[in-house]
Amino acid sequence: MTVALLGTVLLASPALAVCKQKTTGYFRLLQRGGTFIPTAPKGLGTSQINQPLTRRRGQPERGQKVILNRKKGNCLACHIINVLKQQPFHGEVGPNLSSVGRKYTEGQLRQFIVDSRVFNPRTLMPSYFIKTGLVNVIKKHRGKTILSAQEIEDVVAFLKTMR
Ligand code: HEC
Repeated sequence: MTVALLGTVLLASPALAVCKQKTTGYFRLLQRGGTFIPTAPKGLGTSQINQPLTRRRGQPERGQKVILNRKKGNCLACHIINVLKQQPFHGEVGPNLSSVGRKYTEGQLRQFIVDSRVFNPRTLMPSYFIKTGLVNVIKKHRGKTILSAQEIEDVVAFLKTMR
């Protein structure tokens, strides 16, 4: 009850409202709304995807482009990344990503981008490499992942440099 109430209060918060405006596309892609948990849950669990999704190694420079591209990663809509601070409009719905390369293994980072619901079933973060089990997806995105396998690898390579 208290948790549900807290969720409602946080959902009504201005920061999220702003993020919502900027990321309407993603919100349509989200499988369900729900409680907003501002930081990654404690005891993250053991899930990781250790196998790279492609043979070609991820390139941090390309990953940065995917992260910044509003039609691709659009990660800054919800996250601050200190090295990209010259870019406008960093959202604060999710945690600051500036040291995630130290905090998480490569496999955990890959899991976060592919489908972070394994860590938090009610996460607001889009599942970038999932195409089934989503509801209310706009027509042109149906049956497609948000990012390609190579783009995921590039984003992971960038995040690994965040130390
Ligand atoms: C719509 C908002 C939103 C977008 C867009 C988004 N995230 Fe997230 N992200 C979150 C939230 C909220 C969390 C906190 C954990 C949770 O609730 O699942 C999170 C957690 C994370 C974490 C774990 C951080 C930590 O310190 O625990 C990583 C890594 C991450 N996101 C990377 C990304 C990347 C890379 C992108 C772009 C490809 C991205 N996120 C896009 C909302 C978002």
